[in-house]
Amino acid sequence: MNGHARELADGFDLEKLTADFYANPYPTYRALREHAPVKRLPNGCYFLTRYDDLIAAYKNTKTFSSDKRKEFLPKYGNSLLYEHHTTSLVFNDPPAHTRVRRLIMGALSPRAIAGIEPDLIALIDSLLDRIATKDRFELIGDFASAIPVEVIGNLLDVPHDEREPLRDWSLAILGALEPVIAKDAFDRGNDAVKDFLAYLETLVERRRAKPGNPERDVLTRLIQGEDNGERLTAKELLHNCIFLLNAGHETTTNLIGNGLVTLTQYPEQQQRLIAQPELIKTAVEEMLRYESSNQLGNRMIVEETELGGIKMPAGTLVTLCIGAANRDPAQFPNPEGFDVARTPNRHLAFGTGAHQCAGMALARLEGAIAISRFLARFPNYALDGEPVRGGRVRFRGFLSVPCSISA
Ligand code: HEM
Repeated sequence: MNGHARELADGFDLEKLTADFYANPYPTYRALREHAPVKRLPNGCYFLTRYDDLIAAYKNTKTFSSDKRKEFLPKYGNSLLYEHHTTSLVFNDPPAHTRVRRLIMGALSPRAIAGIEPDLIALIDSLLDRIATKDRFELIGDFASAIPVEVIGNLLDVPHDEREPLRDWSLAILGALEPVIAKDAFDRGNDAVKDFLAYLETLVERRRAKPGNPERDVLTRLIQGEDNGERLTAKELLHNCIFLLNAGHETTTNLIGNGLVTLTQYPEQQQRLIAQPELIKTAVEEMLRYESSNQLGNRMIVEETELGGIKMPAGTLVTLCIGAANRDPAQFPNPEGFDVARTPNRHLAFGTGAHQCAGMALARLEGAIAISRFLARFPNYALDGEPVRGGRVRFRGFLSVPCSISA
């Protein structure tokens, strides 16, 4: 076992992943944590798997930069994908980051989203009503992916009949962030940014002409800016709206899909949560920890530093492996176990520090309401066929999960 773990760690290459890895990356992550926690990859980048090393990187924005202008230029050239990703909040450093984040956080704070709960419950119940008319259903398409697209669509007040392309645009743009992308994935990503921008320009124009209520409508709020006169530029506004729509789609779909699939693998935990629905908050945190929907983050070292006894010069790229850190035994007792009542649970599924997920209150609310209402309605749901994985290393989730509701 130990020899095999060492082999896994030695042979790990983020650019050459195997089908076994995509099916279950955790043995490899464990091997890396134990044998090569600061792993130099063949392309010269480092891959970090220990919880404490991720914390160190997340908390030190001066040394570990999120600004992707240098890194993305060779990958995307002078393309719209380049413009989009380098204008997104998440891929910037202070002071640009601080100003944009303040505006976006204001629009997504727990107070700002508190009002969405009744609509969210109604949406989820209508999806459950539709599922109840079938014997078999598909967990992702019929449920998990239908929720975030509506929620963010509602937050930005995108008219219902204009929402259809949003999910495909989002998947194409985020797909282009995979460590290696083929030409057609690059083209799809670029086309998606082009179409998304064109669509948002018309939406923003309409909203400027007829503003909504800034208390409820995030787009109106972002257009109007803060009382102190802080505003996004036109380009920042469009790209950060795309980013918001993307950031909340696949990640939240995967939280709901991964969570409900994981419960089927731990029937005693499933029964416990059904018997004690008040555990939903800790259960959602455990789902986020156990199968983190966003598994990787990236930083560039901009001043020489040392991690795990390894010196890294400025210009070194590091990948922060959230999926591995969230199963680090130095932080989590019995890390490979799934416990719906786990406390404390300081997982890194939302990152931490200056870039910590701005939408986490929203994601937690969506996850808790979707999963608890699903379980209350269909306590006997079961897998009914092989779930199909998304085949991505960064965003971990399922494309489809056939299920039955009658036991
Ligand atoms: C389960 C669902 C979600 C997960 C796992 C997740 C995960 C993350 C992570 C790990 C980061 C930090 C990236 C970094 O430091 O490099 C992040 C940032 C961000 N997320 Fe989320 N996210 C989720 C849902 C959402 C939602 C619903 C929204 C909003 C609609 C959102 C908006 C953002 C924004 C704006 C940032 C950038 C924050 C910054 O750079 O200051 N996320 N998210």
